[in-house]
Amino acid sequence: MSQRKKIALVGAGNIGGELAALAARQELGDVWLFDIPEKLGVAQGKALDLEQNGAVLGYDAAIRGTANWDDLAGADVVIVTAGIPRKPGMSRDDLLGINLKIIRSVAQNLRTRCPDAFVIVVSNPLDAMVYAMKEVTGFPPERVVGMAGVLDSARLQLFLAQAVGVAVKDVRAMVLGGHGDTMVPVPSYCTINGIPVRQLLSADKLAAIFERTRNGGAEVVKLMGTSAYYAPAASAIQMARAFLHDEKRLIPCAAFLRGEYGYQDLYIGVPVILGGKGVEKVVEIALEPVEKQMLDNSAKAVRELIEASKRL
Ligand code: LAC
Repeated sequence: MSQRKKIALVGAGNIGGELAALAARQELGDVWLFDIPEKLGVAQGKALDLEQNGAVLGYDAAIRGTANWDDLAGADVVIVTAGIPRKPGMSRDDLLGINLKIIRSVAQNLRTRCPDAFVIVVSNPLDAMVYAMKEVTGFPPERVVGMAGVLDSARLQLFLAQAVGVAVKDVRAMVLGGHGDTMVPVPSYCTINGIPVRQLLSADKLAAIFERTRNGGAEVVKLMGTSAYYAPAASAIQMARAFLHDEKRLIPCAAFLRGEYGYQDLYIGVPVILGGKGVEKVVEIALEPVEKQMLDNSAKAVRELIEASKRL
């Protein structure tokens, strides 16, 4: 492998494969696609297919599949999708017991091999998994984040664009809080090119759009029997790129809080500045009383999940 940046993808499932495809196309670095020995062929097969794809599309990236943790040594970015995805009717929280074991074992293996990596957790239930990742690796919290806010905000942006009848790229939206039923779409920061969305859509329409956003993941699961992967992968890659290119993006991520927003020792979705040092700043924005109340409610749900995981 070359001296290019090294991107380790733990989990070669649907999201893992799409992460590898995007990382390669954007030439973010060389990619290692990791999975358990039983899935080594899948990891290697996807890697080979994607390298061949580079001959068609013309990107430069070495892509390898592996089941050997040592191959991930020295990675600059690690994106963790390992774990069981949701099936129809399941909530993200239903995955806690099984995915917690998997994430703790992943974290044990990353701890010594990738001590300088920026780690992005995607596995669910997201806020509890990213908390466990930080706890077990002992990495500084600015280098361990969870991907949720970019995805939830993207879903909200789409639904707003469709309702107003405008291009999705003109819509900015923000979803904070936990990546679950209590997530908090924040109307005061939803705009169409700066125009507050509340000037363009009625309260009823907005409420329905927020509800659809909260169920945005479940809607896809119900349709195809497993979790979404295109938009989740693109969201995590946006975060990886912000780190690798020191972009200073201001985006919502699950970040570790030490008093911000009044919460201690908690991972939850908040706006952060992502750059070459990882989470360079947690940005505290003014929220309307109802929005803050919903965030408090979400923080309480996430805390309960983290407490439950500590007992497992
Ligand atoms: C979703 C999964 C990735 O929201 O949590 O689709």
